[in-house]
Amino acid sequence: MADTTLMDKLVSLCKRRGFVFQSSEIYGGLGSVWDYGPLGVELKKNVKDRWWRAMVHARDDIEGIDAAILMAARVWEASGHVAGFTDPLVDCRQCKNRFRADDPRIKGTPGQRDAQCPVCGSKGTLTEPRLFNLMFKTFMGPVEEQAAVVYLRPETAQGIYVNYLNVLQSSRQKIPFGIAQIGKAFRNEITPGNFIFRTREFEQMEMQFFVKPGTDAEWFERWREWRMQWHHELGLNPARLRWHQHGPDELAHYARAAFDVQYEFPFGWQEIEGIHNRGDFDLGRHQEYSGKKLDYFEQATNERFLPYIVETSAGADRVTLTLLVDAYREEEVEGETRVVLGFHPAVAPIKAGVFPLVKKDGMPEVATSLYRDLKLRFPSFYDDSGAIGRRYRRMDEAGTPFGITVDGETTSGRTVTVRHRDSMQQERVSLDLVGDYIAERVGGTL
Ligand code: GAP
Repeated sequence: MADTTLMDKLVSLCKRRGFVFQSSEIYGGLGSVWDYGPLGVELKKNVKDRWWRAMVHARDDIEGIDAAILMAARVWEASGHVAGFTDPLVDCRQCKNRFRADDPRIKGTPGQRDAQCPVCGSKGTLTEPRLFNLMFKTFMGPVEEQAAVVYLRPETAQGIYVNYLNVLQSSRQKIPFGIAQIGKAFRNEITPGNFIFRTREFEQMEMQFFVKPGTDAEWFERWREWRMQWHHELGLNPARLRWHQHGPDELAHYARAAFDVQYEFPFGWQEIEGIHNRGDFDLGRHQEYSGKKLDYFEQATNERFLPYIVETSAGADRVTLTLLVDAYREEEVEGETRVVLGFHPAVAPIKAGVFPLVKKDGMPEVATSLYRDLKLRFPSFYDDSGAIGRRYRRMDEAGTPFGITVDGETTSGRTVTVRHRDSMQQERVSLDLVGDYIAERVGGTL
């Protein structure tokens, strides 16, 4: 199977089954903005819930926050985004298209006579590169003037730094400790694409860990290990996960060291999470720009210092895409192609499908009542239409790990058939215990 075909098949399955739709589709769609449908929202929520559990609930040293998307414009001056969050772009004076200056399709040097436009083919029509800021800008209040400019945040991290003192004081944490946040971020990406991999509106799961200078390298290594373990526990194929270390030319302005968790997508190895040792850059800059002291007094040693930060920054949409790509498979079964999303049961959007074998002999009544009970415990789905094989196949495509069929033996012997998505094996389980049976298998670990 060609790799591009896999992405095409996945995009089409996501639409057909209600995982992901193009934004504003009936108006022709909005470029690189996507909406999550009924199954997609559950899948992505499971990713976020697992992250929150691992980061905030399972630990004593991390607090959660939910900061606003709109922040004071000075925040983005302090962070370096106003001056530095830019891509160099060139325009074609002939066809008016705009490209990144490093677009591999450009032949020659932009701004020079030898440069040829990759779209219209004209020579010598490309402008010199100009810097283009990736932040979305809007105005706050009724007047559209420079003083009223605000930005949609391009990362959630800054909401954490500016609340560092508030959280420290209100939670009575001591260094080392962390602050975690999940939320939307916006970037006016010039070359977005690959479905929900790179979009203009996306969600980040970021954690900033505040440590004593000198202990940062040690914490950085710990966080690297914990984060990779988290990805493994999502059920991802370990052979498709690896580390990529940023070389000196790749390091962001704030980073002393950076490693990416990469996944092998059909379009190549790509970053899904970044772990950064940010030193004292962030608190130092906010201290300078706000005029507010942000240093920390350590009572045990009687020392005062500006904490260093180790950041873990993952994209909720990217991890969701990773799960979809990793789970997709096609199998030949009895002369037909079976499409399966083999999600780990803990992340599957629907945990169990409930089916009456036929629509008579009291089976729909028993199945409906079972479905009502199960639905209160975990996401379940009721389906009584079509042949049972078809109903199983629909659940395979949705990635539902268990199918429960109410049949003739249910009324006589109070047992149901449990069908396993991956092996397609069936076993009989007591009607009264089937809820516990499935609950035990979909809980998952942190
Ligand atoms: N606070 C650091 C930071 O934002 P980043 O490497 O720019 O670092 C971190 O972004 C993560 O956010 C990436 O690993 C990726 O998962 C996600 N991300 C960044 N830009 C994205 C985009 N345009 N679309 C989807 N996810 C994106």
